[in-house]
Amino acid sequence: VDPSLDLIDEIKRLKAEKNAVILAHYYQEGEIQDIADYIGDSLGLSQQAAKTEADVIVFAGVHFMAETAKILSPQKKVLLPDLKAGCSLSDSCPPHLFAKFKELYPDHLVITYVNCTAELKALSDIVCTSSNAVQIVESLPADQKIIFGPDRNLGAYVKKKTGRDLVMWNGACMVHEIFSQDRINQLKAEFPHAKFIAHPECEDHILATADYIGSTSGMLKYTIEDAATTYIVATESGILHQMQKASPSKTFIPAPPNNMCACNDCPHMKLNTLEKLYNCLYYEQPEINLPEDVIRRAQKPIERMLEISE
Ligand code: 13P
Ligand code: SF4
Repeated sequence: VDPSLDLIDEIKRLKAEKNAVILAHYYQEGEIQDIADYIGDSLGLSQQAAKTEADVIVFAGVHFMAETAKILSPQKKVLLPDLKAGCSLSDSCPPHLFAKFKELYPDHLVITYVNCTAELKALSDIVCTSSNAVQIVESLPADQKIIFGPDRNLGAYVKKKTGRDLVMWNGACMVHEIFSQDRINQLKAEFPHAKFIAHPECEDHILATADYIGSTSGMLKYTIEDAATTYIVATESGILHQMQKASPSKTFIPAPPNNMCACNDCPHMKLNTLEKLYNCLYYEQPEINLPEDVIRRAQKPIERMLEISE
């Protein structure tokens, strides 16, 4: 990229010229969030992808999110700034192994967390996100047998909240399993009035001490509406950008990870840069394409989720 270019101006110009929309997840770098047309959690982003009138969707997020946008708007061009932006949780559930797992429970309904491949969604009955997983399980008859995957932590949380007995796939997110209980306790002692808020992808013992548990949007909303002035935040650190913007006078502290990790950044989310975003709009690449039958089969469980969450 020509170093004399003002990337932000150029991205805005290309966006208008190509009738493109930028959808960004809260875990993106602040400068990407600031240029996005819509920032949200996975549910909000799917809803936007389903209803946008743009011709091109640039997904500032990870691969499974861009795939979900393509499934919901197959006639649109969906671009992802870096195709290598994957997801450890999605990787923890290879579709061919899940298909075998599913065969062991033929009378079970399959609910999959949106953080999975399009292939896996195509093997599912209903998709869910962290903001509607409890609602979706509760919408089913009490005697309905359910397989839940791929996140064992979100699954355990849903199990606890609903009292349902879920058959669980054993997957997890690398970012939400690094938090150190000891260091969080030290921080709580240092800031006794701080609220501790956590994403349900965190482990059970971390969630057990949280004042609020919810999706990224839910956590953001909580910090806006709640009266406390300091929050310890157990999720990917990108969300702190919006929290700080929405409540400039409040203090947000990322929950400390264990000694093995330097920070709470998701290495996949953080692969996207302003420069890659510009290149992807300019060249209209890399593009997300999926086989037609995968789109067709994956559409149903996502649409079922959107209907339940309306
Ligand atoms: P939500 O924004 O839907 O809470 O998802 C969190 C996440 O881990 C996305 O990768
Ligand atoms: Fe996947 Fe975790 Fe990164 Fe979200 S934060 S994209 S679940 S690895």
